[in-house]
Amino acid sequence: MSSPNLREVLAEGEVGATVTVQGWLRSARHSKGLSFLDLTDGSSMAGLQVVAPPELVNYESEVRSLGTGAAVRVTGELVESPGKGQRVELRAGELEVVGVAPDDYPLQKKRHSFEYLRTIAHLRPRTNTIGAVFRVRNVAAKAIHRFFQEEGFVWLHTPILTGADAEGAGEMFEIEGGEEFFGRPTRLTVSGQLEAEIGALSMSKVYTFGPTFRAENSNTSRHLAEFWMVEPEMAFCDLEGDRDLAERFLRAVFRQILDECGDDLAFFDERIEKGVVATLEHIAETPFEHMTYSEAVAQLEKSGRDFEFPVQWGADLQSEHERWLTEERVKKPLVVTDYPAAIKAFYMYANDDAKTVRAMDVLVPRIGEIIGGSQREHRHDVLAERMDAQGLDREEYAWYLELRRFGSVPHAGFGLGFERLVQFATGMANIRDVVPFPRVPGYAEF
Ligand code: 4AD
Ligand code: MG
Repeated sequence: MSSPNLREVLAEGEVGATVTVQGWLRSARHSKGLSFLDLTDGSSMAGLQVVAPPELVNYESEVRSLGTGAAVRVTGELVESPGKGQRVELRAGELEVVGVAPDDYPLQKKRHSFEYLRTIAHLRPRTNTIGAVFRVRNVAAKAIHRFFQEEGFVWLHTPILTGADAEGAGEMFEIEGGEEFFGRPTRLTVSGQLEAEIGALSMSKVYTFGPTFRAENSNTSRHLAEFWMVEPEMAFCDLEGDRDLAERFLRAVFRQILDECGDDLAFFDERIEKGVVATLEHIAETPFEHMTYSEAVAQLEKSGRDFEFPVQWGADLQSEHERWLTEERVKKPLVVTDYPAAIKAFYMYANDDAKTVRAMDVLVPRIGEIIGGSQREHRHDVLAERMDAQGLDREEYAWYLELRRFGSVPHAGFGLGFERLVQFATGMANIRDVVPFPRVPGYAEF
């Protein structure tokens, strides 16, 4: 049986109306001859207070022994609520216990650590925090599709099983039996970019949005072995066009999250990360800063900071460097461009200086790199030589090279780490808590 979700009832339910709602109890308080049940169905941060009177036929037999976690269906009248912070409450006329929850329900009304909640991923979306994270995650996904659809991009579905190492970094999960089945070695994709380039070179503007996998042994608060990536790719586009798209894209997505997730963001601001809403507002309104990698290195050298990893032209920026640049130097999102060729993937367009490539990373406070992208090398011979130099087999990438022979055009794109975006928007400290079922080294439960 379907009934309105609590979000609608709380916002629009009229006093005096009879409604049926269903959900789980966040808490149950039984006082003398009256029970107060805090009901939630996961649709909103706020719950609906249900007041259960002793006239209910099953009051003594069932209602009085209800505890946290039980599932109920209630029909009753909405009345004005005397409590503050809630417009209406429900006076139960009928209360059906759909599923009981015994006393050993793990989510009793106390704060649990996020580490503990990960071990009960089958129940953790019922908590305020994780429920709010998943609602924000949903709105973020919707905003991403909306942005690209409105900009005329075509959503391209790229394969999860693949032969190509898109990043040329060798961090792929091998498929056991792949060779036997497909007649060639197969792996889980690390990026849909190479296939997205096929899309762009025929349909002009495409994007991917799906899961990707990295077999890198990174045990940090910003890395997952399975994560979702959004990868737009545009033909007839250079790095400046790419950077411009990334900025408009991030700002539009944050704007929609701000517009649609007010209650959840208020919760994050109060309980998880002070100032997260102000930061999002600021970013949605302010143009991003940009500088080249060489400028960034010069700024870091001048900073007088004692970094754990030394700053040196030619070395990759570490998280501590990225955070100093965006959090302290420019105090807003920063796009760093033109990295040394030696630390970037083989497909990036080579600058005339023969040392740097047309790469960009978008850095944001607290997270560091949220987007990585580049203009692609569309000159056949330059690309082929670069692949040779990096020890990549031309045969393996034959179709990728061939794209550069038939109507090759400048093109560019980027990859957004979807979980990092959700992490940024919610203020959650650990990326494992913004994905329903985290996969990290040593852990793949559920
Ligand atoms: O910088 P990356 O490796 O770039 C690519 O994969 C390109 N093919 C993208 C493109 O140009 N189409 O990854 C892109 C983004 C990073 O900026 C980061 O936000 C996220 O993906 N990311 C991860 N997120 C979670 N866990 C990991 N292990 C991640 N590795 C990358
Ligand atoms: Mg990167």
